Amino acid sequence: MNHFFSIDQLSQSEIMMLLKLAKKYKSYSPNVDKKIFGANLFFEPSTRTKMSFIVAQRKLGIDVLDFNESVSSTKKGESLYDTARTFEAIGANFLVIRHQSDRWMDELKDISIPIINAGAGKSEHPTQCLLDLLTIYDSFEQFKDLKISIVGDIKHSRVAHSNIKALQKLGADVYVSAPPGLEDDKLKTPNITVDQAVELSDVVMLLRVQSERHIGKNETKTDYLEKYGLTKLREKRMKKNAIILHPAPINRGIEIDSTLVECDRSRIFNQMENGVYVRMALMMKLLQDWGVLKHENVIEERNAIL
Ligand code: NCD
Repeated sequence: MNHFFSIDQLSQSEIMMLLKLAKKYKSYSPNVDKKIFGANLFFEPSTRTKMSFIVAQRKLGIDVLDFNESVSSTKKGESLYDTARTFEAIGANFLVIRHQSDRWMDELKDISIPIINAGAGKSEHPTQCLLDLLTIYDSFEQFKDLKISIVGDIKHSRVAHSNIKALQKLGADVYVSAPPGLEDDKLKTPNITVDQAVELSDVVMLLRVQSERHIGKNETKTDYLEKYGLTKLREKRMKKNAIILHPAPINRGIEIDSTLVECDRSRIFNQMENGVYVRMALMMKLLQDWGVLKHENVIEERNAIL
């Protein structure tokens, strides 16, 4: 694998391999027998993604170089490229980057240590996609012909953009349900109403209204939940085994009725837990592909062979 910038880089079998490896890591953590530094460069707020990368890194025995953008040299005008080159120069073995630009990776092609995309503007969020896939796989053990509706602010959602591509590649039937003005005209995915979505779907994936990415005045309406969100009444019309996903953070009472966040169908906190395991799997694969880690550096694997 090259830098991990887009979910498009993974074939169907590579995705399945990562999901199976992540599932294995639910019961044991391999440990890296080598000094490896991973730098987490978050230029946008994050709780789940950043913290689950850190937990995954610590479980693997990787040293975490934390970076706080608000007190970094970014405030003196340093570019993303120079920040990345700095971490490379001081000995980071790989970078995890989240940035508000859709195409931040274009300026980092020449960085010679592996880079993982932890969120790029509105365009891609491939590790969120992997954890969503694992959560769906945990419930259904397959993707083929599953009906999956992604509901909400499609236009500004990097989560939707990565998931649509991956789920279609895996054979799922993907629908979107976007309120007026929040559709993405470039997508060919069928746009249905939220009422249709709850009735036909095996998976209803809700999205946060990304107000910070809305240009101009576009306040969230007080009737958003009733018109476009998952209300208690709509949840009752979902299929028997259908599940609810949401990448979080959640606007309770806007995309979803607050009482549904932890209902039986909800897998929202399972998604967060799965984030740790898919990120462990991805980092192990990437570091091995780049030769940063050799098989003999991975303690559990060596013990398993002996
Ligand atoms: C998502 C993101 O940052 O794109 N959050 C996450 O990583 N779990 C979704 C969002 O912010 O709404």
